[in-house]
Amino acid sequence: TIENKVEELLGKMTLQEKIGQMNQLSPNGNIDEMAGLIKEGKVGSLLNLTDPELVNRVQEIAVKKSRLGIPVLMSRDVIHGYKTIFPIPLGQAATFNLEIVEAGARVAAIEASSDGIRWTFAPMIDVSRDARWGRMAESCGEDPYLNAVMGAAMVRGFQGDSLSDPTAMAACAKHFVGYGAAEAGKDYNSTFIPERVLRNVYLPPFEAAAKAGCATFMTSFNDNDGVPSTGNAFILRKVLRGEWNYDGMVVTDWASATEMIAHGFCKDAKEAAWKAVNAGVDMEMVSGSFLGNLEALVKEGKVSGKTIDDAVRNILRLKFRLGLFDNPYVVTDQKVKYAEEHLAKAKEAAGESVILLKNADEVLPLKDKVRTVAVVGPMADAPHDQMGTWVFDGEKDHTQTPLKALQEMYGDRVQVIYEPGLAYSRDKNIAGIAKAVAAARRADVVLAFVGEEAILSGEAHSLADLSLRGAQSELVEALSKTGKPVVTIVMAGRPLTIGKEVEESAAVLYSFHPGTMGGPAIAELLFGEMVPSGKTPVTFPKMVGQLPVYYAHHHTGRAPSGKETLIDDIPLEAGQTSLGCSSFYMDAGFGPLFPFGYGLSYTTFGYDKLVLSADKLKTGDVLTASVNVTNTGKYAGTEVVQLYVQDKVASVTRPVKELKGFQRVALQPGETRTVIFSLPVSELAFWNIDMKKVVEPGDFKLWLGTNSDEGLSAEFEVID
Ligand code: IFM
Repeated sequence: TIENKVEELLGKMTLQEKIGQMNQLSPNGNIDEMAGLIKEGKVGSLLNLTDPELVNRVQEIAVKKSRLGIPVLMSRDVIHGYKTIFPIPLGQAATFNLEIVEAGARVAAIEASSDGIRWTFAPMIDVSRDARWGRMAESCGEDPYLNAVMGAAMVRGFQGDSLSDPTAMAACAKHFVGYGAAEAGKDYNSTFIPERVLRNVYLPPFEAAAKAGCATFMTSFNDNDGVPSTGNAFILRKVLRGEWNYDGMVVTDWASATEMIAHGFCKDAKEAAWKAVNAGVDMEMVSGSFLGNLEALVKEGKVSGKTIDDAVRNILRLKFRLGLFDNPYVVTDQKVKYAEEHLAKAKEAAGESVILLKNADEVLPLKDKVRTVAVVGPMADAPHDQMGTWVFDGEKDHTQTPLKALQEMYGDRVQVIYEPGLAYSRDKNIAGIAKAVAAARRADVVLAFVGEEAILSGEAHSLADLSLRGAQSELVEALSKTGKPVVTIVMAGRPLTIGKEVEESAAVLYSFHPGTMGGPAIAELLFGEMVPSGKTPVTFPKMVGQLPVYYAHHHTGRAPSGKETLIDDIPLEAGQTSLGCSSFYMDAGFGPLFPFGYGLSYTTFGYDKLVLSADKLKTGDVLTASVNVTNTGKYAGTEVVQLYVQDKVASVTRPVKELKGFQRVALQPGETRTVIFSLPVSELAFWNIDMKKVVEPGDFKLWLGTNSDEGLSAEFEVID
């Protein structure tokens, strides 16, 4: 068995060789420098080697020239595609389609493994509720359940049916844990998540990843309540190993061991290595504190031999599971990159990730009478930027932009006038706007492609202002003043505060960064060959001041009173308490711009006959909830039917609603389908006042609907 092999090999290793396995380095292209270390058995894993010939050279050194011949594990951030780029993970989450998300990860693994990459640092399943945080782009949004199921789908896709398959990449659940709660949305910032919130909100996606067999976990950069994750034994030993029985491998984030010095948690690299390893880290990414200090720490008795052995077991187990000992070399297969079927999947994912936020007067899909379209805006032909953040390998020459797609796919049906108006999203030069306006006047419909360049989201790319950058807002305003219908298509790494532009536009499609095939997907959506079905994976704020904003907030003691008055309506001599005294913003009201789970279609859907299988259930029971969904419009379309639950009274206050399931349902015009959900009562469990995960008996409310704000509801009771 693999365990026997691990023990046999471990038994032959010196302490130095064991510590060597715990070391991950980034060669920065200089393999010769690495060769000596690899021969000495001082490198367990390398980061960012993408040339298969170099990979094979390294493996040859490791296998033939190091004493024990242990292969090196090659890793890279293959986040939303390798060559064929899929939508950013936030966009993938908007599909609410687990199959396409799994397929995307499979494509990424097939392409990356063909260059020898057998370990990716994805999925990122940090619950993200503050769009200022640039890394929201890489997450699956604000909801624990959505992150959990999306993350598990990505794990299945990356790892395939068996890790030992040469096309499998070990997945990495990151960042463990709480990184998405960075205070004020500023990357790397501290978090202050109490244990109950950690367990109810931030940990569930990671537990789901562990259950899905995710081969590795990465510790996060943040300190939570004063303890950096890389030195946090509570999350690594108590929760991950103790409660979840996880037998995979734990790696630090980039230098996050030695960053504990900057945090003021360790005085030097030696203390960093000591705290990280004792907390439960197995492998250190790049900062070298393990290699330089663990031997001394073991000799001084500060780190036990067993702790080192356990870490090395986790590393060797992974290498055996990946089949690296039997097959360390890569057989390059260039044909798989940008394969037709990969591009087709990427197009499907891109199409399903686009959210229709507005469609006044059914301006979309574009009708036959539309003969001329003006294509404007800096994102219409931005082959690099539409791929989004975390793209190291996808080449922009393969990107199909909306402009190209419209010209090539629909050029015989409409005349396309291209006048970008602005060169890039931050362009403040308004000189080109007049030309864009002139183009708009000559067209039947204006297609305005605005948003954010890729560089404006991602790691260390937080923003305090989420409005459209540069002169994009002026561009949309000028276009709308022409009186021509303006269809605004937003490509961005996060929800932007686009209330004004939504008002000014006849229709709005929100696409996040859609990847290589974004152009054809958007073109087909515009012309109705695809029908939008994406739903917001995060709440869209009206203003930055509403952040963090998320649907699953708790009740306050002050429900809306109906007396709330917005700032412009407050009479000059209003009394102190005359405005309602409830929890709202005088300048933004109660609601966001768009709620979680929101997205329109070209068709319409009607809901009726919500039926529950019982109104009283025991904790071991399974509730069945069904609803009839009818396509009441003219187009065939797909609805994402969403199930939310509220625990009405509990030993601690609970969220007003929590997503517990969803289904994509394709319906022809006039067709009705009974959509059935099974909800085990055990899914209602939460960490209660005694810090126990239990289902507390009592009353619950359930909704089945089209978004987190609308739906049919029914009540049931859980009894002892
Ligand atoms: O995987 C990433 C992580 O998400 C952020 N820091 C660097 C790592 C490796 O590139």
